Amino acid sequence: MLRTLTAIAALLIAPVLSAQQAADAVAPETGTDTALSLTTAELQSAWERKQAGQPVEAQNWMISAANPLAVEAGARILRGGGSAADAMVATQLVLGLVEPQSSGLGGGAFLVWYDADTGELTTLDGRETAPLAATPRLFQTESGEPMGFFDAVVGGRSVGTPGTPALLEEAHSRWGRSPWPDLFDDATRMAEDGFTVSPRLAALVTADAERLALHPQTAAYFLPGGEPLQAGDTLTNPAYAQTLRTLASDGADGFYSGDIARDTINTVRSAPNNPGVLSDLDLALYSVRDRPAVCVAFRIYDICGMGPPSSGALSVGQILGMLDHHAPGHPNDPHSWRLFGDASRLAFADRGRYMADSDYVPMPTKGLVDPDYLATRAQLLQGETALEEVAPGTPEWDHAIIWADDDSVELPSTSHISIVDAAGNVLSMTTTIENAFGSRLMTGGFLLNNELTDFSFRTHRDGVPIANRLEPGKRPRSSMAPTIVMKDGAPVLAIGSPGGSRIIPYVAKTILAWADWGLDIQQAVSLPHAVNRFGGYDLEPGTWAEAMQPKLEAMGYQTRIRDLNSGLHAIEIGTILRGAADPRREGIAFGE
Ligand code: GLY
Repeated sequence: MLRTLTAIAALLIAPVLSAQQAADAVAPETGTDTALSLTTAELQSAWERKQAGQPVEAQNWMISAANPLAVEAGARILRGGGSAADAMVATQLVLGLVEPQSSGLGGGAFLVWYDADTGELTTLDGRETAPLAATPRLFQTESGEPMGFFDAVVGGRSVGTPGTPALLEEAHSRWGRSPWPDLFDDATRMAEDGFTVSPRLAALVTADAERLALHPQTAAYFLPGGEPLQAGDTLTNPAYAQTLRTLASDGADGFYSGDIARDTINTVRSAPNNPGVLSDLDLALYSVRDRPAVCVAFRIYDICGMGPPSSGALSVGQILGMLDHHAPGHPNDPHSWRLFGDASRLAFADRGRYMADSDYVPMPTKGLVDPDYLATRAQLLQGETALEEVAPGTPEWDHAIIWADDDSVELPSTSHISIVDAAGNVLSMTTTIENAFGSRLMTGGFLLNNELTDFSFRTHRDGVPIANRLEPGKRPRSSMAPTIVMKDGAPVLAIGSPGGSRIIPYVAKTILAWADWGLDIQQAVSLPHAVNRFGGYDLEPGTWAEAMQPKLEAMGYQTRIRDLNSGLHAIEIGTILRGAADPRREGIAFGE
């Protein structure tokens, strides 16, 4: 089962950035505490290990995230003795500047925490909420039909009450060791002095220029002088620096009330063509929820993560829980992918029927991951060819409610941070503003989310209500799957990814590859993708996944060759720490 390094190397996809581009993305060392800064050589070495398909190894602490500047900010905190929660705050604040298209203060996040002192897992829900004035028909035309996706996304209509600022404060108040204002130093300095625009940000700005041009503040920032930002440009963001200074001194209150709140509400409510209904009451009422972790047994592990309103842990858990009854023996065997793909389709069928914000709709949360239920679903995988019919199951439930299947759209976006600190605390957080560049509305130097489009645009189907329909105050269903894998009560892996609803197969597949196929964590992260959610198989171009196309089609699958832009960031926790970052994106893992 164990593969040789040479064989593994042949499986890896081509690097997306050259080493020189990585070096260009590294900030000059002009920070206030340069003694704790990472050197360019250290960052370069982390980049090269990723591109060579090798994990970064460390003894004490580790961070893996989507941009070297953000990793550096978190690493400086860890190097100075800060906790994983402290490092996450510093990392998120820099991500909001250098990777603004994916996450930031205007969005939401889910956080999974393993506490080394107590041995307990905590999951925090910092998901956006629907404004109290939003109606279930928010995304329908006058005739009751679903709006076009981008007609709904761009403007104020799609903006939910942001949760990230409250989540940062909550995590710091529970687990922080560093002074709160110190966590803002790097992001504030970079916003004032400027940072180097990365190739990925520049490419996405160019691709989205038409929509970014629709709102003056957004256009002025991303399209200065009417032209898209270019890779290598130095970009300052004084408005973001001002926002950070307010949060550093006033905490999250400085976001949910006062000038920032007023500007946020004005921006949403006065968006031309597509105004929203967010109010000061929505901001004032926002709270982070502490929810029970969802854990599912797979082999010798417990796969633990974020329950409703995320479908992440339930669906990842269902896929692996079904595969626990089978042996997908080898990544080059198409039958491994038949098992994985059909387990995934069965999980997505349950997701579309049952999963939503359980504060608003009854959900068979326990039934969906009950071992007997998963064993029954796993029996459906016994054939030799693709399942012809895939329908939701009937998990045990104490409610007699019938739901219709939803039709929400989730396009790839989002970012993931994994951190282990020197005390052994583990953090796995997936963070988002939903679509790339969110609602395209900008205020205070940050983009506002379009998270409400994660609700089903339809409320009913043939008179039967849809669980994930929009309701005032409700949190839209997510696919984010920040995960901590446990063995005998101790954490052994932190992992998560962006990618819209493909997050679920990205995370499940990587855990499968790591646990069953003998790959180290970087090899598992770099492994080409073959993902199936609704019947069709998406295969990563230029890899052996593409070469599997004829065999999968012979089994009865429709296939599509397409880019699959995961952004997996993972840390394996053993006698040493091994960090991995996705070669499809700009991130790195770094530790010492
Ligand atoms: N908007 C991405 C997610 O929550 O899954």
